[in-house]
Amino acid sequence: MKLKVLILDDETDFADELKEFLQLRDFDVYTANTPGEGFESLRRRPYDLMILDIRLPGMSGLDILKQVRKLYPSMEVIIISGHGDMDTVIQAMRDGAIDYLRKPFRHIDIQLSIERTEKYLKLYRQFREMQDQHSLISTELERLIDRTFIGESRPIRQVLELANTAAKYGNTNVLITGESGTGKEIVARIIHYASEQHSQPFCAVNSSAVTDSLLESEFFGHVKGSFTGAINDKKGFFEIANGGTLFLDEIADMPFALQAKLLRAIEEKRIKRVGGTDEIQVDFRIIAATNHNVENLIETRQFRLDLFHRLNTLTINIPPLRERPEDIDPLLKYFVSYFSVRLNKPIPKINAQLVETLKQYDFPGNVRELRNMVERAMIFCNTQTLSPIDFNISGKKSGKVTTGVVLNLEEQEQNLILQALNECGYNQMLAAKLLGISRDSLIRRMRKYNIRIMKESD
Ligand SMILES: Nc1ncnc2c1ncn2[C@@H]1O[C@H](COP(=O)(O)OP(=O)(O)OP(=O)(O)O)[C@@H](O)[C@H]1O
Ligand SMILES: [Mg+2]
Repeated sequence: MKLKVLILDDETDFADELKEFLQLRDFDVYTANTPGEGFESLRRRPYDLMILDIRLPGMSGLDILKQVRKLYPSMEVIIISGHGDMDTVIQAMRDGAIDYLRKPFRHIDIQLSIERTEKYLKLYRQFREMQDQHSLISTELERLIDRTFIGESRPIRQVLELANTAAKYGNTNVLITGESGTGKEIVARIIHYASEQHSQPFCAVNSSAVTDSLLESEFFGHVKGSFTGAINDKKGFFEIANGGTLFLDEIADMPFALQAKLLRAIEEKRIKRVGGTDEIQVDFRIIAATNHNVENLIETRQFRLDLFHRLNTLTINIPPLRERPEDIDPLLKYFVSYFSVRLNKPIPKINAQLVETLKQYDFPGNVRELRNMVERAMIFCNTQTLSPIDFNISGKKSGKVTTGVVLNLEEQEQNLILQALNECGYNQMLAAKLLGISRDSLIRRMRKYNIRIMKESD
């Protein structure tokens, strides 16, 4: 690849001499002597690099720099300044010039500067290519992600019917509620991929996983240089989801301050990137999910009522697995055949007692727990039949009232949290994972029960 270079300098001799030198070094070089000529040349062909004299008649070099950085962001600019121009140089570097040279300079100086720029451009382009490939891969993966939703019970048939309706009305916001592991995310994907917007993005955001300090920029995007670390323009979730679906997972964990901003973005359908001035039109459907009782959170003022009304145009509740035992048999069969393919094992028979045993079990982790159990059983099972022994749940059976068992929910919650923390060496991240909740909600619960960790963790 020959680097295409434009020299804009009003000293014709200087420009021509430099052109000759750079051509000998195998660059593809053009010259212009006025700003008008320069812009004309830029319109005619794409350049990789511009060498710009900052003192030009008719127009300030700094203004030219600003304009070309905006119009041709992938072109780099090296500026040339006269003596005593340090303030201008500093301003130019702030405005995005990649390097500067002071007149008079030796040819070797500019050669080195161009070679440095060339290296940078190469790396940057490779990086962009990788980024593009990455986003292509993820859309491809997105399509492959499992969207099979199994269940024959009445509530599950109702869930699927509602999902179908939601798919038909692409502008309707949907709220999906249900305990952890009941399949809220699958249902969200089913709605998106069955809708007319199916070829548009499905952008999944876990509201509790976004760190507070980056929150606004993650959702709204930012412009280069708007804060330390903003080295490039970046699209936020709203722009990424444009035309498609924004899936807000664990909506109850969304910080209160962001809820107001989200509401405004939904209502106005216009956003500004952090540090930006342009208003950007956005249009997307929101599917929100939660395993909390949002009404309770509204009462305690942790969740905005107005936002809730915006999100729950259509509500889909997925009941816990223990309330629909008739789904256990089809789910079990589905996961068994699924894992025999994944683990490359023959499909085992299912012992009749197994289904009955599973139906007695409480499944606090719902379908996810069943799925994990089947995977584990399939890995360790060496016979041709799966039986209760492979599932190792006999000791865990609960749900039925037994005397002597503590049934106080809050007390049990505290115990479970303590147990999980203990088991994970007081690492909150791991404990939260074990409990099937987010780290933020673990911390909130710990605060509620006044559970303190003396040891420094994660
Ligand atoms: N009806 C179902 N049919 C097939 N697989 C299911 C079903 N329900 C849940 N699953 C599986 O269970 C796992 C958990 O599902 P998902 O992530 O959608 O749950 P969730 O409700 O979003 O849970 P959480 O609240 O913890 O995020 C996934 O692997 C999913 O494939
Ligand atoms: Mg989920």
